[in-house]
Amino acid sequence: MSRDWSRLREELDRGRMWDILMQFPEDLERAWREAEELELEWEEPSKVLVAGMGGSAIGGDLAKEYAYDRARIPVEVVRDFEPPLYADRSTLAFVVSYSGKTEETLSTLSRLLDAGCAIVAVTSGGILGEVAAKKGLPVLEVPAGRPPRTALPYLYLPILVILSKLGVLEFDRGELEEAISMAREARRELFEGGETSRVAEELAERALGKIPLIYSYRPYYSVAYRFKTQINENAKQHAFCAEIPEMCHNEIVGWERGGSKYFPVFLRGREEDPRVRARVEYLVEVLEERGVGYGVVEARGEGRLSNQLSLLYAADVASYYLALLNGVDPTPIELISRMKKRVGGPHW
Ligand code: PA5
Repeated sequence: MSRDWSRLREELDRGRMWDILMQFPEDLERAWREAEELELEWEEPSKVLVAGMGGSAIGGDLAKEYAYDRARIPVEVVRDFEPPLYADRSTLAFVVSYSGKTEETLSTLSRLLDAGCAIVAVTSGGILGEVAAKKGLPVLEVPAGRPPRTALPYLYLPILVILSKLGVLEFDRGELEEAISMAREARRELFEGGETSRVAEELAERALGKIPLIYSYRPYYSVAYRFKTQINENAKQHAFCAEIPEMCHNEIVGWERGGSKYFPVFLRGREEDPRVRARVEYLVEVLEERGVGYGVVEARGEGRLSNQLSLLYAADVASYYLALLNGVDPTPIELISRMKKRVGGPHW
């Protein structure tokens, strides 16, 4: 079915999320440059924590998967009021809150300060910005005035750049160049109606009125989770994700009785272990035997970063289109805003 996307955008995208999506390549470049400029005199840490919630935490998930087989120390994400007990003076902690006002993140920050961790603040201001200034913490400033989830380049790339500067992982800057040119190409296709718009539009059309179940594997499972949360927040729709191989030991059984209300989507990238591939092929067979339609999104490029980010960009745009199909403005997240008011602000 051919849709008049520009008319839907005009009518529904009052928060102008489309304009931010179209800046993705420039945001990647700027986030990279600013992270390179940050000077840190620290020793190599013994572990890394990324503390944040929602849109501010996802950069930590991507970094954790990126680092899984490239760093010799653990990289963990903390979505909580408290960091784990092992946080100590040899821990590097990124404290990420776009608004700088999120209660969970600020509570964790206070414990991380008590534990003497080396802290980098990633924020557009708020209380986190104030505390960082008072305590002399290094700050990576995120441009203000947009929904946190659209600031992903500023919440992910700096973590990789800093981990590489501190010797935690080897990160070839050529991967970044590749990811940026991939993003430029994908954006051009969105303007010209090329492959990226075809993939994103088709995903949105097929997810309409269904519950998307997004399946992927390391190092792209973080993108599956991102896709789920983007569908939740942008399209105001339920969606779930599950990781291969683990889901082959539980979730897969749900398909025994079919499931026409679901729309399974596989996110596939260049790094696909043959053991993982065998499982993906088996899952596809299970779905086909039951006549369940599924979608596949293929990553682009050679490097891990380009693969992750090309999937993520397609997923972000698909969730945006799905919002338009659902007749909603992608930007507001009323139930989150009300929750923040209801539970009370941070008590710093
Ligand atoms: O996407 C969103 O707006 C949310 O998921 C927020 O990121 C989340 O509520 C945390 O807020 P903040 O990013 O300001 O710390």
